Amino acid sequence: MKEIQFLDNKGTFSLKQPENYSYLYFPVAGERGIKSSLTPNLGGDSKLNQNAFLMEPVSSENLHNNRSGRNFWCRVKGKGCWSAVGQSAEAETKKFTPEQEKSELTAGFMWQKIERKTENYQLGAKVLSFVPLDYNVEIMQVQISNTGEEEQKITPVAAIPIYGRSADNIRDHRNVSSLLHRIRTTDCGVQVKPTLSFDERGHQINHLTYFVCGVSGKGEKPERFYPTVESFIGEGGSYTKPRALYEEEEGGKSGANAEGKEAMGGICFQETVLKPGESVSYTILLGATEQEQEIPDILRAFDSEEKVERAFKQTENYWKDQVNVGYYTGNKDFDNFMQWVSFQPMLRRIYGCSFLPHHDYGKGGRGWRDLWQDCLALLIMNPSEVRQMILDNYGGVRVDGTNATIIGEKPGEFIADRNNITRVWMDHGVWPFITTKLYMDQTGDLELLNQQVPYFKDRQVERGTAVDKDWDDGYGKMQKNAADEVYMGTVLEHILLQNLCAFYDVGEHGHIRLRGADWNDALDMAEQRGESVAFTCAYAGNLKQIARYMRILKRRYRQQKIELMEEMAMLFCDDSYSNKSIDKKHSILKKYLLQCRHRVSGAKIQMDIEYAAKNLEEKANWMMEHIRKTEWISEENGGGWFNSYYDNHGNAVEGIYEDGVRMMLTGQVFAIMSRTAEKNQMKAICDSAYRHLYNRETGGYRLNTNFREEKYDLGRMFGFAYGEKENGAVFSHMTVMFANALYQNGFVEDGHRALQTLADTALNFEVSRIYPGIPEYFNAEGRGMYHYLTGAASWYMLTMITEVFGVRGEAGDLVIEPKLQGEQFDKNGLAELQVNFAGKTFVIKYHNPGRKSYGGYEVSHVSCEQEAEVSWSKTRALIKREVIEKLKGDMAVITVELG
Ligand code: G1P
Repeated sequence: MKEIQFLDNKGTFSLKQPENYSYLYFPVAGERGIKSSLTPNLGGDSKLNQNAFLMEPVSSENLHNNRSGRNFWCRVKGKGCWSAVGQSAEAETKKFTPEQEKSELTAGFMWQKIERKTENYQLGAKVLSFVPLDYNVEIMQVQISNTGEEEQKITPVAAIPIYGRSADNIRDHRNVSSLLHRIRTTDCGVQVKPTLSFDERGHQINHLTYFVCGVSGKGEKPERFYPTVESFIGEGGSYTKPRALYEEEEGGKSGANAEGKEAMGGICFQETVLKPGESVSYTILLGATEQEQEIPDILRAFDSEEKVERAFKQTENYWKDQVNVGYYTGNKDFDNFMQWVSFQPMLRRIYGCSFLPHHDYGKGGRGWRDLWQDCLALLIMNPSEVRQMILDNYGGVRVDGTNATIIGEKPGEFIADRNNITRVWMDHGVWPFITTKLYMDQTGDLELLNQQVPYFKDRQVERGTAVDKDWDDGYGKMQKNAADEVYMGTVLEHILLQNLCAFYDVGEHGHIRLRGADWNDALDMAEQRGESVAFTCAYAGNLKQIARYMRILKRRYRQQKIELMEEMAMLFCDDSYSNKSIDKKHSILKKYLLQCRHRVSGAKIQMDIEYAAKNLEEKANWMMEHIRKTEWISEENGGGWFNSYYDNHGNAVEGIYEDGVRMMLTGQVFAIMSRTAEKNQMKAICDSAYRHLYNRETGGYRLNTNFREEKYDLGRMFGFAYGEKENGAVFSHMTVMFANALYQNGFVEDGHRALQTLADTALNFEVSRIYPGIPEYFNAEGRGMYHYLTGAASWYMLTMITEVFGVRGEAGDLVIEPKLQGEQFDKNGLAELQVNFAGKTFVIKYHNPGRKSYGGYEVSHVSCEQEAEVSWSKTRALIKREVIEKLKGDMAVITVELG
């Protein structure tokens, strides 16, 4: 029997004895700021942001090390103390013995429930955790039942240590920062309001009150409290053997104060008598607020079982509704896996790239490339919100084509770099257009390109190589013109600057310089001479596509000209020498960068749209041809691939050497996606990638072969053990983009293999050891790592919908072009996708009675229940946007016959 069992088609699953697996954590959060992670024993942590951790911050190793999680004890008269979450010294000794308590986890989007039973104490517990929609608290609802045949007297005690400070203080001034604590017991729990917050901003007056409070399911308040760690664990005691409980020490009353101590949310309820079969429940709330007076109101909102149940249902439905895509391939596990994959981009919107146990870096917010890629998934599920998001995000671009790297929580809030590192990631300019293109395809809204938005401005100028000493806070964070007004340019102008400045920023081999790194963050040691051929392909692909969309503007809107910042004209230099000559490129770029160091003139030019499009195409063609000519590596057996990078010694990184093959996936992905690779080269890449990078057992296509060298003239990744993270792990994000590129070009078998192996490995719990979903990477043993927060999720979802099921927008029209394999249909030859498009819910049903694979079938008939006009050819069907807009009702069911 499989360990993970799916219980519905919305991803809900169960797992027995979850505490017997290492590193498991589950995300539970809300939209109001609280972000928690929970282990099977209710360890993990909870925080609002980097400076406000309610529970002590945990990294992955703390998951089996720390004892300071959420606990709930029952002091059972005549028997002893039982931890209803399985976190006690006694439970620890019984682990892996026949006496181990039986436990089972059930979980869905943003909630988990753990049930456990003890023979010894004849009790059962259900602990439900979730964050309600209306309040910024984590709820832990504990139900205790008497499973024995005799009446039992229990005293229930919730025990949650309150850390109440900045994550930094875990090692930096841990004790000193506890001296700031002011602790108070109220009639419902324990509150801590530190006097100051010692954090990255310095010493700040603190306004937050951290609290743990509770109430019984019948509305009874607690009786006694253990508000400090000392009072709870006692001298020599511990969280898993707290002396106050074992020695039956009566806690303090409400209204007590303590200062300068580590705080404890120790809440003792009245002793209760449980008849056989009887249950009681307790609701514990954990949170932090600047409005301390609202805590009693929050408690009142959950002071009965019914209220908690109602809030839970509401929360459960809210998150289910957020994932408004349905997949049916006849493989229930895979379809449920896709539900989690589709949910993951929401998790990253909330958690950023920090705040889950493996993600013990960053301080919140999202990085530039992550933000844009998460938009891809949001675009499919909730396109109406994305337009404004895109416009706001373009405000993070500088006039030199670089950008602020961290995006804050509020729209338009940009941070140049939190650590004040002047670092330019050379891939950053690529992503906004990719997202904008999908937006235009899905919505048909090309008008977006002509919207005016500001530019970001700070001290960094000349693409991160110089400092504008005249810039100060008075100037502000928006680029100004000569008249000292905020300078605005169109979205298209922003896109052009990002891609054109990169075009000129080349290294000695004529490819775009690697600078601080590219998508692969760990290629960070080739600042001077490194070049990324991989992303040069991506930029070239962008230039071509930008030209294409400019032509659509011309055709559809009769737009003849584009308005540009006057200084930009030189970036459209069109003599062929400027393509070839590296020096010429540098001088053009330098000239441009010097002109817009501090202020831009503000003057505009009108450029003929066709001239501009042609100019971009010529540049792109030159880049692609140059790569084809200089970077192809041929294998004797017909395989081959592109070199992806140059190192800091100016040497090509990949090739066939005596000690082995050096091949990286990234270069291949973008060569294929941009069509720098020609068809025969794509085929050769497929062969070589399968031969050198594919490993079925550990997730499929790896990021690179083993270089067997600590290659510090390229990046820190070579310091990582091989098979881990950016050094040759199966790094889901790049593997999925590989699949996407292959599907786009009709290499369906290889693309399918890439996607399916990821899913199969993730779902093989014995190997991956993760809850359902796609992890950032699979390590050398196939274990899923850095689960949940990964750009792989957006891309996986996008690829399944737009390529595999083939349902996507094309400048606003709906295209249906399936690339499904035989095994992706059920035994009756059916496969189905439900997805929103143009404000309607589309159900696309594929009927392939022979369960043939892509290439073996043709579209033989297409019909729409709502009688929308559909045109189709052998490979694809198309419904015009005007037709969709005229459709009555919210739903359209399309049946596509494949034969
Ligand atoms: C992460 C980062 C991403 C980076 C990648 C590779 O994970 O979030 O910005 O490009 O590592 O270094 P991902 O989101 O791609 O899984």
